[in-house]
Amino acid sequence: MSNTIRYGLIGCGGFGRFCLEAYQSLEGMQCVAVADQDAALAHFTAAQTGLEACGSPDELLARQDIDLVHLATPPFTHASLATAALNAGKHVLCEKPLALNLQDASAMIHLAAEKKRILAVNLIMRYNPLCRAVKAVIDSRILGAPVHASLINSAKDEPLPAAHWFWDREKSGGIFIEHGVHFFDLFEWWFGSGTLLSAHQVHRPDSRIVDQVLASVQYGGGVLGTFYHGFHQLGRRDEQTWRLIFELGTITLTEWVPTEMKLDVSLSDAEFEKLTALLPGVRVQLLERYPAEDSHARSRHRDRLVEVHAGMTLDAGFAKQELYAKMLRDLMTDQLAAIRDPAHVRVVGERNGLTSLAYAVSAQMAAGAGGVL
Ligand SMILES: NC(=O)c1ccc[n+]([C@@H]2O[C@H](COP(=O)([O-])OP(=O)(O)OC[C@H]3O[C@@H](n4cnc5c(N)ncnc54)[C@H](O)[C@@H]3O)[C@@H](O)[C@H]2O)c1
Repeated sequence: MSNTIRYGLIGCGGFGRFCLEAYQSLEGMQCVAVADQDAALAHFTAAQTGLEACGSPDELLARQDIDLVHLATPPFTHASLATAALNAGKHVLCEKPLALNLQDASAMIHLAAEKKRILAVNLIMRYNPLCRAVKAVIDSRILGAPVHASLINSAKDEPLPAAHWFWDREKSGGIFIEHGVHFFDLFEWWFGSGTLLSAHQVHRPDSRIVDQVLASVQYGGGVLGTFYHGFHQLGRRDEQTWRLIFELGTITLTEWVPTEMKLDVSLSDAEFEKLTALLPGVRVQLLERYPAEDSHARSRHRDRLVEVHAGMTLDAGFAKQELYAKMLRDLMTDQLAAIRDPAHVRVVGERNGLTSLAYAVSAQMAAGAGGVL
């Protein structure tokens, strides 16, 4: 294999084409060919991007000039396509979720290890600079312990007609598995491993479609995480809000690919200085300075020195779509490094595909069983 890694895409739908565009400018990787079960779509995509079209996924997998195959097909196809790709000697970047069940996911990871190939899952959240900034704040303990983190995902369903595979649990796995895995993976990075407490699902009135799900997870150190996903909005009202509550402040993120982070903190001057240094580029608004006689406070039965109340804003530095493409490239760059050097430790590897799926499968089962397993 030359140092350049040659890429083939299977699945030329909306997301596959978005990724392809993002990857075409990536150094050290050459996009070679595309395939789709819809051969006309593969030809259209090839013509648009200047790549070659293969008549079928098998034809693409048989090519000797492709090292890494990206599976951007619906979830129910991931296990069989990844197995075929690994057996053909390819590295695989699989779209999330890795598979629909843990047995398939474990078998795929086992096969990848046996073939000495990577099997990455496109769980991009850990590559978002603001998600990294949140991780740094949590680990620093400047805001004290994290207590609660919630994601409210009020998503558009305008691009999802009733017959779309997304609504078919046999094909998508359901909302926790198809979409929730991103956030289970991210919260585990932030807070450590967790245990599902409960999960619920709600059907759309007079329909078999489940369009709302809710799960709660307890993490170490007494952190409670809650995840709400509802797919019921106009495209223009698609909205996500994340809120993290700490002992000494809150963090709010907006959009599912967060582009802005806001903090509201009550700290001593020394801790506030440390926090500002931890977040380069942060904009600060001093809301209140407490006089000495008012700076001693208590919470959780502990004394707290609170000299300043401030608002802080940190921008990701990119508009949403630009940031999304960058996160895709950063995840891919991480995988390419591991292909070139097996000793390279990736931010997201095989394990993330399995553990994120484990939360999602438990949540799906609990929701189906009426709440708690
Ligand atoms: N990582 C992310 O941020 C992210 C974002 C969106 C979607 N996704 C994932 O990407 C995948 C694709 O989503 P999408 O929105 O592009 O779906 P889509 O329906 O728009 O496209 C899927 C494509 O796969 C093709 N296809 C289906 N079965 C196939 C098979 N067996 N062999 C070859 N081609 C096949 C279809 O013809 C279609 O062109 C899903 O797993 C989804 O969860 C990931």
